Formats: sequence, C-alpha cells, structure tokens
Amino acid sequence: MSTQTDRPRIVDQGEPAPLPEPRGDASAALMKALSQPGGHLPDLPEPTDDPLTGEDAALALYLCYELHYRGLEGVDDAWEWDPGLLAHRQRLETAFEDRLRDEVGRLPAGFDLAEELWALAAGAESPDALSARMAREGTWSDLCEISVHRSAYQRKEADPHTWGIPRLAGEPKARLVAIQSDEYGEGITEEMHAGLFGLSMQGMGLDPTYGAYLDHIPGVTLSTVNLISFFGLHRRWRGALIGHLAGFEMASVAPMRNYATALRRLGCDDWTCLFYDTHVVADAEHQYVAVELAESLVTQTPAMKADVLFGASALSAVEGMMSSHLTDCFGAGRTSLRLPLDLPPAPADR
Ligand SMILES: [Fe+2]
Ligand SMILES: [Fe+2]
Repeated sequence: MSTQTDRPRIVDQGEPAPLPEPRGDASAALMKALSQPGGHLPDLPEPTDDPLTGEDAALALYLCYELHYRGLEGVDDAWEWDPGLLAHRQRLETAFEDRLRDEVGRLPAGFDLAEELWALAAGAESPDALSARMAREGTWSDLCEISVHRSAYQRKEADPHTWGIPRLAGEPKARLVAIQSDEYGEGITEEMHAGLFGLSMQGMGLDPTYGAYLDHIPGVTLSTVNLISFFGLHRRWRGALIGHLAGFEMASVAPMRNYATALRRLGCDDWTCLFYDTHVVADAEHQYVAVELAESLVTQTPAMKADVLFGASALSAVEGMMSSHLTDCFGAGRTSLRLPLDLPPAPADR
C-alpha cells in the first residue's frame, strides 16, 4: 500500500523546452531565426508537407506556440510577440485551419449539442479503442511509446484551456474554473495533473523533463497539441476551445481506466498509475460539468453552438489520426515514434 511518505518526487523548476532538431527547410529556417535576438525575422520558407501530419509543418507551428508556454531553451523571449513571427505563425495557422476543416467536414444542421458531444465521445468506450486493446494485450514497448506521445500535451495539461477563462463570463466561466481547479490539483503542487503524468513517466523509467522527447514525437501527435494551442490562443475560437475541453473530459474515464489496467498488468506500482486513477475519479464528474459548461456557453451566446461542436469534432479527428498511426505501427511491429526509444526496463525485469 502506497503512503505519502514513500511518494516519489519529480523535479520541475519550470525550465523551457530543449530545442529539438529541425525536420525540414521550414523548421530549420525558423530555428535559425529564433537563435538570433528577437526583432529581425528574415523571409521564412513555408512548409510543403501536410499541415496536420507533416513533420516540418507540425514542428514549425509547435515551436511558434511553445513561445507562449515555457519558451525554448536559448531563444529570446522577445520573439513571443514579434510582429514578423506572428505573421509567419498566422500563415502556418491558415494552412492548419484549412486542413482541419477538410478533416472535420460538414457539421450537422439543427443538432442537439449534448447529444452530438456524447456521440463523439462514445468511441472511447469501444472494446476496439486503442486503450482497450492496450488493457488486454499492450506490450511494455507500446505503453512506453504511448506515454512519450502523450507527454507532449500532458506535461502542459490544462494550460491551453486556461486561456479560455478571461474570455468567458458568468456560468460558463464558473464551470471552466471548476474543472481547471481540479486539473491544477486545487492548488496542491503534488496533485497537479501535469505533475502526476511526470510521476507516471518517472515510474516507468522515462524522462519526465518538460519537452524531453520532442525529437521523438511525430507531427501527427504534435498536431493534437497544436490544435489546443490554436483554439486557446485565439479569442475568436473560444467556443471551439470549450468544445475541445468537453470532448476531452467526456472521452476520458474509460481510456484512463484501461491504461491503469495495462500498466498494473505489466507490474507498475500505484504511484505510476496515480495519474490514470485520478482521472477515472475526476473525469467521472468533469464529463458532466463539461456538458454544463458547453450548454451554458451556447445558452449565453447561441451563435457559438457550431464552434463548440467544431472544437469537439476537431479533437475527435486529430485524436483519430494519432490513434490510427499508433495502431498501424504497433500492428506492423515498428516504432510509432519519430526516433526509436531507448526502452527502460519493464518492472518485471528490474
Ligand atoms: Fe486532468
Ligand atoms: Fe478532467
């Protein structure tokens, strides 16, 4: 039985993300520019690969967004609001948004919002879902790779949705704050969900350092993070941000339970599973608060209804692309990561 006194700790001093290696001409030119003091952005080439699944495109946008989180090692903070860089980011975002709209397709007309949100989330309960397969037969290597993929978002969990708070008022604001407060452990450092994910990585023998695996994480996964940053950083997308959060919370309980089952089957201890156990309990409640949040926003601002559904649909689309990538790679016996992972020993082999 685990007690607080034997609780492992992770060290996180808020360091910026390490600079990754470039993945093509666009990310290489961007990183070269960022290595200079802010304010002198040369003409930069735009990525030529797919804005959602391409390595160069996803990394370039990810780097622009990272300036608004912890920043990048050795990069001048002045770049965050540099007009030239913002204009470049906007070009990347236009390509990203166009591709996203193609992927999401046409939204239904005259829909019931809660019904549509629950329908989108229903796939998470399927026995064919990736998490359900991991619970039954996932290998140590599969679980380690999934943890590395998820670290791109989970080590900054909740932060992009928090940008929604100053943009809302009244009931939707109160519902959002209620969810976010739990995500940040109600102010208890050790309970912050982003930290609990770090604890899980450390328990698996992975490196919980913020951004440690950026070079390993493929574009299709970086796009799942770019999506939240895109919605979070633009006030005009606040409806989609709330739809995204609702989709996340409503499709969480079954996968979290499945991953906890998978890790325990492979011999992981309670601390390593705490992130997942915590979400099984927290999101059982958050999913309903999230529906109230989405519905109260639409009651307040009916014109936002389509945006809310777009946000949840976009989440479903990009998560589906990532899951397909993982499923294909695991099925073919090849790594799902951009670089092969130096696999830590499984608990049974330690
Ligand atoms: Fe969480
Ligand atoms: Fe949650």
